[in-house]
Amino acid sequence: MTDPRPITDRLKQDTQSLHDAAEEGGFNKALMGGQLPREGYVALLGQLLAVHTALEGLIRQHVESAPALKAVVTEEQYQVPYLLEDLAYFGVDPASIAPLPATRDLITQITEAAKSDPASLTGFHYVLEGSNNGGRVIAMRVREAYELPTDKGTRYLDPYGPAQRGKWKTWKENLAACELTEDEQTAMVDAAGQMFRAIARVHDELYVTCAPTRA
Ligand code: HEM
Repeated sequence: MTDPRPITDRLKQDTQSLHDAAEEGGFNKALMGGQLPREGYVALLGQLLAVHTALEGLIRQHVESAPALKAVVTEEQYQVPYLLEDLAYFGVDPASIAPLPATRDLITQITEAAKSDPASLTGFHYVLEGSNNGGRVIAMRVREAYELPTDKGTRYLDPYGPAQRGKWKTWKENLAACELTEDEQTAMVDAAGQMFRAIARVHDELYVTCAPTRA
């Protein structure tokens, strides 16, 4: 059966409960509450570097042949450079980062999904690009908690500054204007759900090793 809702509504509505669960998870609550040790935040950036490196490599590979990707992706949405900048600030050598089991599994999921349906990459990308909405708020908390200057260590969380809302609006308008088959839309929503679940698992695995400094 065809779902009559625009793809942007489907993505938001059908992943809302997963979004809310991620927001309510222990890792994010500690991060937002300024209770997560700095190493936990830096470790998150390291895991996200592995995820973005894999996803963005596949997006670059498929962007010319997948119309939805071509419609939404712009060069500034490739976030690997922002993660490398933040990690360099914290003195982390990217070669020293070991992906957690959750991260490895997510990379396998993305790779397999891209093989069977490159349109699904738009769904994976939706979650990470969309996370910049909350990222801007999280960046403020992180700067306070770790006493960071505005322009260091939070480039990934807050890549666009005050332009964030406008950029997200444009992203969604560009996707909504695409003509997509029902199968492509279903693949995108499914991929977005996979990405939310997998990131929540990455947070959980990280949280085991970084207990909050204050209860
Ligand atoms: C403490 C954690 C978080 C907070 C406070 C937060 C907050 C927000 C806020 C305020 C919005 C804008 C909602 C709107 O204007 O309708 C948003 C959107 C979004 N967030 Fe989060 N978020 C958090 C975690 C996450 C995580 C972990 C992810 C993904 C891994 C994520 C993915 C998204 C996406 C995809 C959207 C766009 C929804 C849409 O417009 O379709 N968020 N978030």
